[in-house]
Amino acid sequence: MKTLSTKPYKGTRDFYPEDQFIQNYIFSHMRRVAEQFGYSEYNGPILEETDLYRAKTGEEIVNEQTYSFTDRGGRDVTIRPEMTPTIARMVAQKRKELAFPVRWYSIPNLMRYERPQRGRLREHWQLNVDIFGAESLYAEAEIITIAHRIMTSFGAKQKNFLIRLNNRRLINAIMQDYLSLDEKTAHKLGKLIDRKEKIKVTEFDTELKKLVNKNFTKCKNLLAINKINELPKELQDTQGARELNELIKILKKQKITNITFDLTLMRGFDYYTGTVFEVFDTNPANRRALFGGGRYDDLVDIFGVEKVTGLGFGMGDVTMRDYLETYGLLPKYRSVTDLYICTFDEKYIDFALELASYLRNQGVNVAVNLTSKKIGQQIKTADKHGIPFIECIGEDEVKSDKFKVKDLKTRKEKVVNKGGIAKLIIG
Ligand code: HAM
Repeated sequence: MKTLSTKPYKGTRDFYPEDQFIQNYIFSHMRRVAEQFGYSEYNGPILEETDLYRAKTGEEIVNEQTYSFTDRGGRDVTIRPEMTPTIARMVAQKRKELAFPVRWYSIPNLMRYERPQRGRLREHWQLNVDIFGAESLYAEAEIITIAHRIMTSFGAKQKNFLIRLNNRRLINAIMQDYLSLDEKTAHKLGKLIDRKEKIKVTEFDTELKKLVNKNFTKCKNLLAINKINELPKELQDTQGARELNELIKILKKQKITNITFDLTLMRGFDYYTGTVFEVFDTNPANRRALFGGGRYDDLVDIFGVEKVTGLGFGMGDVTMRDYLETYGLLPKYRSVTDLYICTFDEKYIDFALELASYLRNQGVNVAVNLTSKKIGQQIKTADKHGIPFIECIGEDEVKSDKFKVKDLKTRKEKVVNKGGIAKLIIG
């Protein structure tokens, strides 16, 4: 028989306590900031009907990156590769009862069949923060401010991350009016620009020539522009460019200055209709986006209901962890257990259990030795688990109500009575 591998499935991770500790740390920051802005947590199923993604998620993800199969009842289903279609479905379903604007967040795990590499795995967790039924640019500003605040709450400095902004309305004006491209070619050009950083310049140029022919130089010149006021006049007058200008003004008033206009920022999804943005590390060690999002005003209506505007972002745990590691912002592992009670002999375990129960009622997290191992080995176990305090139970402790509580880091010991243990450990 073939021996089974102990490794997790390709592109997925096991979370040992040290990893889960980091994951929980990241999630707790995400949750706190989302809630500070008035967002409530929701969740949805991990499996959806495949049609949900066929509508507007985009060819690349649906054709190449989904885990799809037919269930035993003959339905085509897909493990969620993103959360946006699910939340749009949930909003469409309850739209009559909801009070808009709706502000919701979630941290689902998602699966995409990708080639595992730095910043890209097959399973990742993604904070999703979305607002529905808010049309003004202040909604964009709020969403981007949340992304910004999550970064600073981790201790990131403004100079160490950059928010890139673009607008699908502006892109559409370029494709349709400025370059006079038909819908199909425009779509292809969008995908090509999306891949710009991943392919060689010569390859990009060849593809571009094929798509825009005589407009090649016009298009190349346009793509080199990185300021809105340097765009051709006719493009500066479009709604997309005006929205970008306005949004940047609002953000600057909120002291968010690490923003840049990026005409090449496309975002792969077909559902975006207005502002799109991504957040990047300024350090080249992490080239993948930390966040990506945008406005999607026509997604809720795919369910045959009246229009409800949407806007939000997704932020992945993999890229965030890499970022925090790069900047030395990860916390040191600390066990959730406060105290390990060791026993000099098995006959003291009953006493230890009773003491543990008493301390748990006072809020101390206590693990008790259940083995007949030597005391030294028990202490080593506690230390290896990262438990900060130990307490050894023997004849003296049972009789005297005096307990020697030892701090394993400082190696200092304090003698207290039963009533003083909790205070010493958790303050
Ligand atoms: P996305 O750009 O595909 O957007 O993903 C958002 C973020 O999730 C990325 O910037 C990255 O941090 C992380 N991410 C995506 N794929 C992977 C992967 N294979 N491995 C590790 N991390 C990954 C969306 O999914 C949109 N639905 C976000 C959104 C919400 N737009 C509006 N609301």
